[in-house]
Amino acid sequence: MTDAGSGDVTGGKGEGAAAWLDARLPVVSGFRQEYIDYPTPRNLNGLWNFGAILTVVLLVMLATGIFLAVNYTPTAAGAFASVEAIERQLPSGWLLRSIHVTGASLFLAALYVHLFRGLYYGSYKRPREVLWLTGLLLLVMVMFTAFAGYVLPWGQMSYWGADVAGKAVDAIPGIGPWLEHFLQGGDAPGDVSLHRFFVLHFVLAFAVLGVVVLHVAALHVTGSNNPLGIEPKEPRDTLTFHPYYTSKDAVGLILFALLFAVLVFFLPNLMFEAENFRPANPLHTPADIEPEWYFLPFYGMLQSVPSKFGGLLAAVGSILVLFLVPWLDTSPIRSARFRPVYRVGMVALVASFVLLGLVGRHHAEGGWMIVGRVALAYYFAHFLVLLPLSKRLERGVILPRSISSGLDAGA
Ligand code: HEM
Repeated sequence: MTDAGSGDVTGGKGEGAAAWLDARLPVVSGFRQEYIDYPTPRNLNGLWNFGAILTVVLLVMLATGIFLAVNYTPTAAGAFASVEAIERQLPSGWLLRSIHVTGASLFLAALYVHLFRGLYYGSYKRPREVLWLTGLLLLVMVMFTAFAGYVLPWGQMSYWGADVAGKAVDAIPGIGPWLEHFLQGGDAPGDVSLHRFFVLHFVLAFAVLGVVVLHVAALHVTGSNNPLGIEPKEPRDTLTFHPYYTSKDAVGLILFALLFAVLVFFLPNLMFEAENFRPANPLHTPADIEPEWYFLPFYGMLQSVPSKFGGLLAAVGSILVLFLVPWLDTSPIRSARFRPVYRVGMVALVASFVLLGLVGRHHAEGGWMIVGRVALAYYFAHFLVLLPLSKRLERGVILPRSISSGLDAGA
């Protein structure tokens, strides 16, 4: 008997389970097309390893996070003690927590490398705008996830960090106090806030995974950019993803795992702030409230502007301006390799970001205030002045005809 509906579905007896499944849900051929035969520019350098690194670290964070969550108590009375119990009583609990905390720092570090790589090589330019925007959405989501996670152990820094963030929101004219109350569930961080942060941390982490799927799907529509910023034109411009980039990614992952292992096994406390080993005490403000290193540049921006609201605008604006980059950059050339002025601008941008981090660390006191203001001014000028002017600054540049001819010519 023939089933009328299955007439065009191949994969009968003898063709194997993979063919049978593929005819009904093309996961096997889809995987082959996207991860084996997938044509990838032949000249990707080590900076293109970070996307794979981020994906793997994200999976490690989700796995360790689930084990931590089942042993964690999300109440102001129980949180600190439950984290101590994970460290001291849960078998390998110290290891799980150390992997999760070190992983958070390394994830953010890899994320910054990934972002500045995109800026340097013009990977945000047409036709990769959506890829860029999904990446930025990930950045924002990861930042919120990391911040919410830091509050969970309910140590002194967790508590006072949440307090400083609440006060920053409070500085918004009009709706500030209402918004602070809404987010915190009270006038100061407490049980309700902790519960909310726990849910936010858990839910956002998995939502990040969903957006990564979109991000990689957008990447596979346009294909990867490359250090020359020229689209592949001839067959010899690309290599198949497997075995060339699977092996290259594996090398990158092994090196990254070595660094990860050194931090976790030899310096397990490096990423912990001493003050956070004390339980949260709303009656005792620590002498020095400082966020994790990855938020320091934004903390520096917050402090370099005299008004609280102005500082908040600068810090939020510094992320928002990134969303406009594909349209602010008027140059037809992608890669900084062929854009001498932009290249210097990128060095200055990275320097201002690092300097703003140092300013954050020194609370914008004394000379650091001036450094902070100059760095902040450059940060915005880079996007709002240099990028729009770049078309005029970069006239008459002759690009190689193709990736291969550029490589042959030693570009
Ligand atoms: C959870 C965080 C993220 C993950 C897991 C992730 C993953 C990936 C992967 C696997 C790739 C391909 C490999 C590579 O080019 O390195 C990629 C490419 C890319 N990502 Fe991300 N990404 C993340 C965040 C971001 C962020 C914050 C941005 C910046 C806005 C971004 C922008 C891009 C761009 C522009 C490309 C294409 C680069 C090129 O081909 O030149 N991504 N990402």
